[in-house]
Amino acid sequence: MRRKFICGNWKMHGGLAANDMLLAELSTNLATKPAACDVAVCVPFPYLGQCHAILKGVAILLGAQDVSCHAIGAYTGEVSAAMLHDLACRYVIVGHSERRLHHHEDDALVARKALAAVSAGLIPIVCVGETLQERDSGNTNAVVVRQLTAVLNALDVTQLKSIVLAYEPVWAIGTGKTATPEMAQEVHSVLRARLGELDASLAQSVQILYGGSMKPDNAKQLLGMPDIDGGLIGGAALKAEDFLAIIHAV
Ligand code: PGA
Repeated sequence: MRRKFICGNWKMHGGLAANDMLLAELSTNLATKPAACDVAVCVPFPYLGQCHAILKGVAILLGAQDVSCHAIGAYTGEVSAAMLHDLACRYVIVGHSERRLHHHEDDALVARKALAAVSAGLIPIVCVGETLQERDSGNTNAVVVRQLTAVLNALDVTQLKSIVLAYEPVWAIGTGKTATPEMAQEVHSVLRARLGELDASLAQSVQILYGGSMKPDNAKQLLGMPDIDGGLIGGAALKAEDFLAIIHAV
């Protein structure tokens, strides 16, 4: 049985005072009503130290939102996987569509980042997803399989056992439009079948999250689908009440 996993993606939001308040509320609530799933928050780099200090002893794991594909060296502005590991990160998001779009990250670079993360003992949350145009032209499955295959080619099966996948239809991110549970389930099952072509136990064990306007009022239906193992939550992760409602929907 795969454990469910609810992961917040704060994106470029937050501040020292706001983070204190949000994490205090989450911690207090989860202390009295523990989550029935894994919970993590992926926060901006500068706040990793702050969040690590606040979350000591709390059942909320820490993650970052990007990582360098390089291990060390003259790469101004980059942050290595080893540095994230030093700062107690367990997870790092790679290949988010906002990075693919605004920073021109391609499948090959995303795969190198996933490899860098796994090599340093982190769990990469590998994001895949189609644009509206790709969906409308009937290319959804081909796009997500292509994006996943780049990662499958770069890592061996043992390494792949420590990745998490996130299906995030680009047209659903931050737009309030959510894929229906059936639409999401269909893509999740395609991704799981692709994993299964490589290794049956891999297909059984890898968590596949859904992301794209998951909210308290749609979480239960999405999380009830057989191949949806959790959520990657943007906007709703910034409000303690909403994030907790999604966690408790599990
Ligand atoms: P959203 O973002 O929940 O605000 O749509 C999800 C994501 O981009 O990870």
